[in-house]
Amino acid sequence: MHSDPIRLQIDPQRTRHRIPTGIYGQFAEHLGRCIYPGVWVGEKSRIPNDRGIRLDVVEALKQLELPVLRWPGGCFADNYHWMDGIGPAENRPRRHNLWWNQPEDNAFGTDEFIRFCRLIGTEPYLVVNVGSGSVQEAMNWVEYCNSTQDTAFTRLRRENGVDRPHRVRYWGIGNESWGCGGKMQPEYYADLYRRFAAYLRPLTGKSCRLIACGSYPDFPDWDERFLAAMSGALDHVDLLALHIYTGWTGQDVDFDDRGYYQLLADIDIMDRHLRRAGDLAQAFSSETHRIGLALDEWGTWHKQAIVENGLEQQNTLRDALFAAASFHLFHRHADRLEMTNMAQTINVLQALIFTRGDHLVRTPTYHVYELLKKHREAELLEIDLSALPTLDFPDQRQRPVLSVSASRTSDGSIFVSLVNLDLSRTFTVECQVEDGSKAFRSLSLLTADNPRRHNTFESPNAVIPCDLPLPQGNAVQVPPHSLMTLTLAE
Ligand code: AHR
Repeated sequence: MHSDPIRLQIDPQRTRHRIPTGIYGQFAEHLGRCIYPGVWVGEKSRIPNDRGIRLDVVEALKQLELPVLRWPGGCFADNYHWMDGIGPAENRPRRHNLWWNQPEDNAFGTDEFIRFCRLIGTEPYLVVNVGSGSVQEAMNWVEYCNSTQDTAFTRLRRENGVDRPHRVRYWGIGNESWGCGGKMQPEYYADLYRRFAAYLRPLTGKSCRLIACGSYPDFPDWDERFLAAMSGALDHVDLLALHIYTGWTGQDVDFDDRGYYQLLADIDIMDRHLRRAGDLAQAFSSETHRIGLALDEWGTWHKQAIVENGLEQQNTLRDALFAAASFHLFHRHADRLEMTNMAQTINVLQALIFTRGDHLVRTPTYHVYELLKKHREAELLEIDLSALPTLDFPDQRQRPVLSVSASRTSDGSIFVSLVNLDLSRTFTVECQVEDGSKAFRSLSLLTADNPRRHNTFESPNAVIPCDLPLPQGNAVQVPPHSLMTLTLAE
C-alpha cells in the first residue's frame, strides 16, 4: 500500500464539454472470423440465430448499447461492391476477399448488416468504395439505403423485403486511401472526395455525416495536404477520420513488465495524433462549417495478429486498461472528437467477444465498455489531483500512476473512472466533491491477480467486474493494474 492518500477534487460546476456517445463506437469488417461466423452463421446453423444472425452475440452486444458500428471495412470496403450483397442468397456472387485472402460468399450484405445493427440497438456507419468503385455505385447505395422516393433502387429494396429506408447517417468516403484504399496522394484523394461528396451530399442531406479518410501517424502530412486541397469544398468534410493501432511488436499475453508499461505509454502517441489533427481541423473550419474528428480504427495490435490467422490475438487485462485509459484521453479530446471505432468487435484484433462453435466469451475489453457507459452524454469535469505519484516508463518519461476521468451525468450525479497503471502499488484516493453533499452510490472494480490474465472458453470469468461494498468515508483503495468506477450522488 502506498501511504499518502491521493486527493481527487471535483467541482461539479467546472464542466469542459459533453462526452459524445459516439466515442464508444465499434468497427466490424469482413476479415477473418469477424463477420463469418462472429455475426453470421446462416439460418440453417445449429447455433441459435435470428434469420442467420447469431443470437448469443446479439445478446452480448445489446447490453453494451453501442452507439455506432462501422462496416464493411477497413481495407475490404474499397474491394466491396454492395450490389453483390443484396437479394436472394443463391444469386449472390462468390468473390475473393483481396486483402484478407479469403472467400466471400456475400451472405451478409447491407440488409443483414442493418438488421444486425437494429438487433443490437446501434447506428450503422457505411464506408463506400472509392479505391475500386465509382461515384455512381456509391450514389446507388445511398439511394437504396436512404431514399424515400419511388425509384429503381428503392423498389429493389422493397423487393428484398425492406419497406422502410435504412436511414444511414454516417457515410465514409473510402478507407485508408493512402494505403490499401488506393495508394493515393492526398491531393488526388481530395479530387476524388470532391466528386463523391458533390453527388452524395444532395442524396444524404446535411443531417448525414460525410467522413473523409485522414492520416495514420506514419503519414502526418496527409491531413494538411488533403484539407488544403479541399479548399472551396471544405463544407463537404464533416469528419476527418484518423487511424492508429498500438502495440505491433509486443506479445499479446507473454509480455514482461516493460511491455506492460510500454503499451500504456503509447497512449501518448494517440494524444499527439489527435492534438495535431484537431488543430488542423480547427484551422480549416469556418464560422459556418465545423470539421470534427473521428478515430474510426484504433486499438491494440499485437505480434500474434497476422493475416494468416485472421488478425486474431488474445485480449488481457492489460488491453482493457489500455482501452479505459484511452477513453479518458478521448474524453479530453471530445470537443473535436465525435466518434471512435475500436477494431474489431468480434474475434479480430482488440475484440469485445470471441466465439468458438456455439460458445461465446466476453473479453476484458468488453467489460470496459460496460463499466464506462455512464460517461456517455455526460459533461466532462475538470479535476484536481494532488499528491499524485509518478512512474518511470520504459521511454525514460515519468507519467502519473493514475488515469482519471470524471463526468456529471444528467441526473446530477458524478461518475468517476480511475485506472491504476502501477503493477504493484495500491493507492488510497480521497474523493472530495466541492459542495460536499455527495456520497458513494456505486463502486465497481475490474482487475485480476496478474495483468496477463484473460478470459478463455474454459475460464470465461477470469477477468470480470465486481461490485464492491460502499466505503463509509470519502476514500477508496485502488488496487494495482485495475479499473475502478464509482458514482457519487446525493
Ligand atoms: O483493422 C484491420 C485493418 O487495419 C483495416 O482493414 C485497415 O483499414 C487497417 O489497416
